[in-house]
Amino acid sequence: MIVDTYDRAHTYLRISLTDLCNLRCAYCMPEEHYHFMPVAHLMQPAEIETIAKTFVSLGVNKIRLTGGEPLARCDFNAILNRLSPLPVELSLTTNATLLHRELDNIQAAGINSLNISLDTLCREKFRELTHRDLFDQTFRNIHLAIERRFNVKINMVVMKGVNENEILDFIKWTKEQPVEIRLIEFMPFAGNRWKGAQVFSRKEMLDLISATYEIEQLPVAEHSTSSVFHIPEHAGNFGVISTMSEPFCAGCNRMRLTADGKMKNCLFSKDETDLLSALRNGLPLEPLIRNNILAKAAKLGGQFGNSPIDELKGDELINRSMISIGG
Ligand code: GTP
Ligand code: 5AD
Ligand code: SF4
Repeated sequence: MIVDTYDRAHTYLRISLTDLCNLRCAYCMPEEHYHFMPVAHLMQPAEIETIAKTFVSLGVNKIRLTGGEPLARCDFNAILNRLSPLPVELSLTTNATLLHRELDNIQAAGINSLNISLDTLCREKFRELTHRDLFDQTFRNIHLAIERRFNVKINMVVMKGVNENEILDFIKWTKEQPVEIRLIEFMPFAGNRWKGAQVFSRKEMLDLISATYEIEQLPVAEHSTSSVFHIPEHAGNFGVISTMSEPFCAGCNRMRLTADGKMKNCLFSKDETDLLSALRNGLPLEPLIRNNILAKAAKLGGQFGNSPIDELKGDELINRSMISIGG
């Protein structure tokens, strides 16, 4: 087991496969000065397998593939083939634009749950937010995944003045369809011009929804990023991911590996451990992994202090951009 100084056992590894993406969402990818990782710096399929196996030998039982857009990697299937035999729950976070061509492979690899990013239900706003005209393809692919009986969660990053007026439309979607809509508080990362005033908080979300619907909170695993709610007679549920207003770090079981093979013990940690270079130099990974976790802060990478959200300055945090962490 990989246990930190706060007695948290770390059993969930998020592996970013690439920082490439075919969308350009400003909250994730800096509009200026972003240099994609050189291919030689990316973990190769065999390296991903070796590193993942080391984590599994230390107690990891869940691996989520992220990006960038993981399906943008041309060797995505080779990676799936190497990871699918591992004794873990394998899952995927994707923007769904390329999903139609991979659904069979994903299903064959034993993945039955897909977390899909979608921040708007308006074609025009999708184009403005992502700088790409791919709403119809995304929406079609989401429905394809639902039809194929994947457990689908929709990740909506809620930004004040941008899309909070669509929350009830997303909630309506759960009436007929068995999807879980996850309303995510906007988080600060390098280059995303985050302002506290743009955070639409968990309380605001719940006040808004409960003004229209009766809502009932459901039990979730202690490690869950989201609290989950049900509306009577709806086929789906909705969740709230409240990193900024009510962090859920006390139950954190997550570790991250960036596409260039650096381990991060928290989404907001400044410290990184270069597992890929260690592997390429023939060094043992286990002590590096354990030391990285022993340095994990109690909460939010130790970077936020106790300031109210409105007083936080996102550009003072030391971190990567979201696209180069992997979410
Ligand atoms: P499940 O396995 O379905 O619970 O997914 P998940 O919520 O762990 O992962 P997903 O990739 O769908 O991420 C949803 C949102 O939660 C994104 O905004 C992530 O950045 C955020 N998130 C994921 N893991 C963490 C975490 O450890 N800490 C914080 N603060 N946010 C996280
Ligand atoms: N704040 C909150 N969530 C974010 N994501 C990407 N950038 C941010 C941000 N700045 C979410 C996307 C994706 C997930 C991996 O991370 O919705 O689904
Ligand atoms: Fe874990 Fe860091 Fe996320 Fe908190 S912010 S839940 S410590 S990864």
